[in-house]
Amino acid sequence: GDNAMYLAHRYDIEVEGACEASLACCTCHVYVDEEYFDKIPEPKEEEEDMLDLAPVLKPNSRLSCQII
Ligand code: FES
Repeated sequence: GDNAMYLAHRYDIEVEGACEASLACCTCHVYVDEEYFDKIPEPKEEEEDMLDLAPVLKPNSRLSCQII
């Protein structure tokens, strides 16, 4: 898939993805730049639930494997 996590991997940016984008982890947690945060599709409920378990949650937190 062409989500932000795989895109990051392609550019050698280190983002983990323990569950391979199946929304069963929060290792792909990233902070999205303000400039882009409002431009990307809103998170699904499953992503929100998983994000709640992420360490140091911020208002611009997302799971990068869910940003497409
Ligand atoms: Fe597990 Fe993104 S890789 S939720």
